[in-house]
Amino acid sequence: MGGLHQGHQSLLALADRARAARGGRVLLSVFVNPLQFGPAEDLDRYPRDLGADAQLAAAAGADALFAPSVAELYPGGPAELTRLLPPASLVEGLCGRSRPGHFAGVATVVARLLALVRPDVLWLGEKDWQQLVILRRLVADLGLPLVVRSGPTLRQADGLPLSSRNRYLSPQQQQQALALPRSLAAAAQQARQAQAGARDSQGSLSLASLIEAVRSGLLQAGLVVDYVEAVEPRSLRSVETLQTSPLLLAAAAYCGTTRLIDHVFLMRRPPIIAIDGPAGAGKSTVTKAFAARLGLIYLDTGAMYRAVTWLVAAAGVDPAAAGAVGGLLADLDLQLSTSAEGAQRVTINGQDVTEAIRSPEITSLVSVVAAHGCVREALTRQQQAMGARGGLVAEGRDIGTAVFPDAELKVFLTATVGERARRRALDLAQKGFAVPELAELAAQIAERDHLDSSRAVAPLIQAADAVELITDGLSIAAVIDQLELLFRERVPADAWPGPAPA
Ligand code: DC
Repeated sequence: MGGLHQGHQSLLALADRARAARGGRVLLSVFVNPLQFGPAEDLDRYPRDLGADAQLAAAAGADALFAPSVAELYPGGPAELTRLLPPASLVEGLCGRSRPGHFAGVATVVARLLALVRPDVLWLGEKDWQQLVILRRLVADLGLPLVVRSGPTLRQADGLPLSSRNRYLSPQQQQQALALPRSLAAAAQQARQAQAGARDSQGSLSLASLIEAVRSGLLQAGLVVDYVEAVEPRSLRSVETLQTSPLLLAAAAYCGTTRLIDHVFLMRRPPIIAIDGPAGAGKSTVTKAFAARLGLIYLDTGAMYRAVTWLVAAAGVDPAAAGAVGGLLADLDLQLSTSAEGAQRVTINGQDVTEAIRSPEITSLVSVVAAHGCVREALTRQQQAMGARGGLVAEGRDIGTAVFPDAELKVFLTATVGERARRRALDLAQKGFAVPELAELAAQIAERDHLDSSRAVAPLIQAADAVELITDGLSIAAVIDQLELLFRERVPADAWPGPAPA
């Protein structure tokens, strides 16, 4: 809507950086949309300074500015216009409650802008989180051929989130308005302390008391509270306890006649991403690259099952004999490490088995070894210990179901057997192994799928809350992009920024 500030500028900078990597152009639309203002709202005084907006847009790397008039955008007039109605569950709470019709107005104008501009990517700020959720849903529900990406909320040094409406505030009101970010930050701090403190005292801090603390912080500063609400960030459904993570704690308040909004995300720990799926779906390649992109630890649990299988083979133990295999686990010292160049090394009982565990012999035995309850128990325990502090992407077969059932994002990465056989053939050739016929490889893959999916303990199945990603015909880069989109819908930059851009 114009009234551009550094928050918009930072979003343009993100778009500009993405464009530098992938090509394309960046267009900025500026349109103060009458449809999204209520009768008593600030449509008339909303800041309009197209000259300043154009300067800022150009400086931030925009190629074009699209600033239609109301008559140009709605030639038939607003009264006769087809409107879009976001789902009730997304508009009944938060800002939707006190701004009836607002999000329908937003959805309608954005659909029209998208139809006129036809972008590949729509960039939106996380500051207006409810709007972002609603517009993502609009894109999904209408099947629009574009992706939605978001940028973090930019704040002044004192914590006040940048907003075009901040310019309505007098210097004294600016001070008063700080109660909004400060009360929310204090609540987040309290939640963190409660979670980091005694696990057994979890639950002693109630969400209701946090909400109450924010509310009273706002009141004390003389703000008039519109709402303080805790919701699940994607469904926007109300939550009652601090168990949900991430959890969105959002507030709106009036400072004089100016309505301000702000939010904070509460997270119990840095994020965990679970990538499960059958052999040869491309999990390793994309998981490794995705971990590097987001600055997360990469955990290849298949390598752990392979290392134990190598130990079983080296000891001359029957892989099917649970008791004998279990005997090897007593003093197991299994280590995964990553070099500065990102290469993974695997050692078991002091022996480097990085290459040896990739041999066709180990591959043919691993599913049998991995099916033993004692093996799964030992390795699951170690994996959970490695993930206790979060901040990792783990790939395997049972990550989202058995190892990290509370992962923020679960993906079931798969491909047809034929496609996986082709990939396996390439992989074997690259590693210098003999390459069997494709039909033979396909049969081996189908057999491993069967063994992994039919074992009694922690079989390979898609978690109920996992997103299925079928990678046939997708490039590696495209799969990683998809993962990033799925991740950022669940863990926005406001909740967990990730590494500073290079
Ligand atoms: O992903 P991979 O091919 O390196 O995995 C090797 C085998 O290990 C796989 O066939 C099944 C087993 N595995 C498992 O049972 N559970 C995991 N979390 C990871 C791998």
